[in-house]
Amino acid sequence: MAQNNIVGDLHVRKDKFVIEGGHKLRGELEIWGSKNASLPIMAASVLNSGDLILDNVPPVKDNITMAEILKVLGMEVEFLEGDKVHIKGEPKGYRAPYELVSKMRASFELMGPLLALFGEAEIPYPGGCRIGLRPVDLHIKGFESLGAEVTVEKGYVCARAKKGLKGTKIHLDKPSVGATRNIMMAAIMAEGETVIENAACEPEVVDLGNFLKMMGAEIEGLGTSTIYIKGKKDLKPVDYYKVIPDRIAAGTFIIAGVMLGKDLIIKNVEPEHLQSLFIKLKEAGVESFQIKDKEVRIKAAKNWKGIEVTTMPYPGFPTDLQPQMMVFLSLAQGSSLIVETVFENRFLHVGELLRLGAKISIDGRTALIQGVEKLKGAPVEVTDLRAGAALVLAGLVAEGTTEVLDVGEHIDRGYVALEDKLSNLGAKIKRVYYEEAN
Ligand code: EPU
Repeated sequence: MAQNNIVGDLHVRKDKFVIEGGHKLRGELEIWGSKNASLPIMAASVLNSGDLILDNVPPVKDNITMAEILKVLGMEVEFLEGDKVHIKGEPKGYRAPYELVSKMRASFELMGPLLALFGEAEIPYPGGCRIGLRPVDLHIKGFESLGAEVTVEKGYVCARAKKGLKGTKIHLDKPSVGATRNIMMAAIMAEGETVIENAACEPEVVDLGNFLKMMGAEIEGLGTSTIYIKGKKDLKPVDYYKVIPDRIAAGTFIIAGVMLGKDLIIKNVEPEHLQSLFIKLKEAGVESFQIKDKEVRIKAAKNWKGIEVTTMPYPGFPTDLQPQMMVFLSLAQGSSLIVETVFENRFLHVGELLRLGAKISIDGRTALIQGVEKLKGAPVEVTDLRAGAALVLAGLVAEGTTEVLDVGEHIDRGYVALEDKLSNLGAKIKRVYYEEAN
């Protein structure tokens, strides 16, 4: 497990991956549950007055942070063997602590359910993060449309709806995943009907919606851009729910497989959720993978050609696989273009890939990638979770040794013991602790 400890006054203990590149990946890997579906479902559990087992919830750092916040709110939360989490009790308060919320933006998604439950919620304003400013204006406008009064007090977003929330029509300027989920959770107990137009269609929105429906919520249109919610007060407790597989983790291993696989089998994949990736791999000329039910069997492709990829809300190509795809395209024959339309600053991995010998230039939200024959190992710094996953892929495929620094802060947020999973498949990767001046 990662440990980021202060060592004396001057140094911080961090961890890095040391990767010896070029080893093939073979064997089987079971994909774990989706972090981005687990987080809002854990948040929604404040509305579930029963004794709940959530299955397929990996103990990644972000899920642990959400569990800690639920505990501060007064609930009992325990991670069990086999990626299960046991949640029981009811929240006693509606104010989430800054120290925990500041670690993870997704904690803002507690606002909707707490507001629905208490008619009041106070959550620290989430700061920007490296991949973009990531405002929460659409969440706030949604709560206001539902009749809440929203103010910012001492860094906290405070929403109040003493007379209760009232259903209404909300048109989102952008199909924000977080805003769709937050508004949906606020609206399920509101008076009357809420319609969310230009809603996000991501599978993680649908999964949350299905969990809420099990609680008795009346929701229609999940997975489409218009969601209809008929508010009702009497929800019923759910005792078991299984979260969908993590499509981004699966996509990360599939991209690794088409570069390095030797009969690699990825299990517990929902192929429907990864169509945009499969289409792009085929467009690049990669045919060395077969999909059967929930399984993808992959061999490395001999070569592939450059293509254009534009990140888009689902079912478009996911921004969360853009850095990993860039590693793949760095080794393509010819040039490629990646246009990042979702986040304004999600090319931070490019500088690090250049250190490994990639040829990439950036113009605004477009990256031009000229394929090179090989990448060469070097120390690289991780800037965010998916950039970290991409740098690990780059290290696996590069010649020589790559050190991926600061993995505990970022990669562990979404991938549990990634080094063990890759080692089991034949990669040469180990976690090493180091000290850095504070
Ligand atoms: N946006 C606004 N105003 C808002 C909300 C969003 O302008 O009120 C903008 C954002 O700044 C961004 C765009 O809309 O430019 C899309 O953001 P969205 O709200 O859809 O993203 P999110 O809910 O904050 C989730 C995932 C991200 C994933 C995005 C896009 C979770 C916990 N996070 O974030 O996952 O990249 O959707 O698919 O579900 C990751 O796992 O590495 C990750 C960053």
